[in-house]
Amino acid sequence: MKLAAPASPLDQWALGRNVRHLNHGSFGGCPRDVIDAANAWRARLESAPMKFFVLDWQRELDAARAALAGFLRAPSERMSFVPNATTGVAIALASSTIGAGDEIVTTDHAYRACKNQLARLAEARGATIRFAKLPLPFDADAAALAITKEITPRTRLALLDHITSPTALVLPLERIVPAFAAQDIPVIVDGAHGPGQLALDVGALLKLGVTWYAGNNHKWLCAPKSSGFIVAAASASGPRPVVTSHGASPEYGPSNRFHAELDWMGSHDPSPNLAVPTAIATLAGMGNGWAHVIARNHALAVELQGRLTAGLGAKTVLAQDTSLGTMAAVPITLPPNTKPLELEMRLLEEGWEIPIVDFPQGPLVRISAHLYNHADEADALAAKLRDCGVTGR
Ligand SMILES: Cc1ncc(COP(=O)(O)O)c(C=O)c1O
Repeated sequence: MKLAAPASPLDQWALGRNVRHLNHGSFGGCPRDVIDAANAWRARLESAPMKFFVLDWQRELDAARAALAGFLRAPSERMSFVPNATTGVAIALASSTIGAGDEIVTTDHAYRACKNQLARLAEARGATIRFAKLPLPFDADAAALAITKEITPRTRLALLDHITSPTALVLPLERIVPAFAAQDIPVIVDGAHGPGQLALDVGALLKLGVTWYAGNNHKWLCAPKSSGFIVAAASASGPRPVVTSHGASPEYGPSNRFHAELDWMGSHDPSPNLAVPTAIATLAGMGNGWAHVIARNHALAVELQGRLTAGLGAKTVLAQDTSLGTMAAVPITLPPNTKPLELEMRLLEEGWEIPIVDFPQGPLVRISAHLYNHADEADALAAKLRDCGVTGR
């Protein structure tokens, strides 16, 4: 596999020329064709807003939803667009029946905003949270054990990342979810990074026992920002969207009540969602099909991890290839009296988009691989970090 050059040249992307984009994971990045498609939707809407929303919007949304559902192998009748994964997780949590004295299982790698939402839910309902400690270096079997051993007779909910945010680890859901499902414990999967990093089969995950899957289109599918989705198993309680809208009235909205509750959460710009089919097709065209996009980006992430580890002299490899998608985190030591955010901000000022993660067990640099990235970027990043006084750990 050719990793020495971008699979898709940067001039096909809206990304700037003078910036090193090594962080697709946080905020994505868009091909120009996708931006053009979203702009065309917005122009059509703005030319006759009422006509668009009253006559066209639901039909166009349903078409975009069907394309996304086909790509994710998800049931479109139980799927809605949401602005982002954070909102999707909030809806899943709001829909849960968790109550006083109940326990919720999550991990110490859970995304901060979702952990915060979980903490508020637990406080409001009188529940407690048990944090499974994931082993580092990562071991998929040990991780599955660490999570499932937090199940007690009081466990009523689990929130699990598909791919962890600070550490870029793919959790082995197939070894974890059945243990919860066997006891009818609902599982919310925060799949912010799943679509486009992994060959997702959401239908299979629902069969495994996942109750809610929340994901993003604006990360690895390269849709414009403000496009995510949520899928619920038939067994899911609710939905109780965080914004109650017209669809809560039984006489209003589409006949599918899941769609009626979730599709219209107030006036919004639907162009990012409507551009999702273009994003899926554009990336497939750029990368020789999605299977190849994912395989190439995974191979590149592994290569970037290896070169950065060597270039910084890091002694610990956080995860083996089989536990990586298309990102990787490398443990680092910062120069004395430097905080991770300070280094991250300095790098941003100097044209490097790369997260320096403030992880409790020590700082990490997290690298992403998408079609515009290539292997030599790891050497350049290692040199830059060394110049900043960073060493591997
Ligand atoms: C695991 C995880 N969950 C949720 C999010 C939030 O995504 P968004 O800001 O699109 O809601 C992220 C973002 O990086 C993430 O890594």
